[in-house]
Amino acid sequence: MISRYSQLVMPQDANVVGTLFGGQMVSWMDIAAAKAAFRFLKGTEADVAVTRAIDSIEFTKPVHVGNWVNFESQIINTGNSSIIIQVDAFKECHDEDKILACTAKFTMVSVKKTSDGSYYKINHGKSI
Ligand SMILES: CC(C)(COP(=O)(O)OP(=O)(O)OC[C@H]1O[C@@H](n2cnc3c(N)ncnc32)[C@H](O)[C@@H]1OP(=O)(O)O)[C@@H](O)C(=O)NCCC(=O)NCCS
Repeated sequence: MISRYSQLVMPQDANVVGTLFGGQMVSWMDIAAAKAAFRFLKGTEADVAVTRAIDSIEFTKPVHVGNWVNFESQIINTGNSSIIIQVDAFKECHDEDKILACTAKFTMVSVKKTSDGSYYKINHGKSI
């Protein structure tokens, strides 16, 4: 199942060459991955998942102010506490509907929150 999430690129998201700042892209991809993990963890003992690793990140096309970025996240593997999520970011502009701009593999780990504001790792007990 694919989770979807979108962002409009605003002027404050740009870098010094006027395209989308890579750190902002990664931040949005992290949220897109979190959405897939959030849905996966429904009905489990885990409260939420935190990012453990980001691998194979590639910026393939520049994205410009005024473009939309449409994220597609898909869980590709699961472990005991880990959830591996492929996130693809597609840019949409006036002339083009769907151009792959960035891709990465996120490993998120399911955790349980505690009353003192901390958290600990917990097995989610699910597979895909
Ligand atoms: C997430 C956290 C609780 C996990 O605790 P930990 O002691 O590192 O746990 P582990 O080493 O057992 O790793 C947890 C899982 O991640 C996997 N993992 C660990 N390192 C990994 C890596 N580099 N790449 C991919 N998977 C990895 C492990 O294989 C394990 O998977 P499994 O439970 O399915 O077998 C802890 O590392 C942490 O709090 N990290 C900081 C998270 C954070 O601040 N993120 C940014 C904000 S969201």
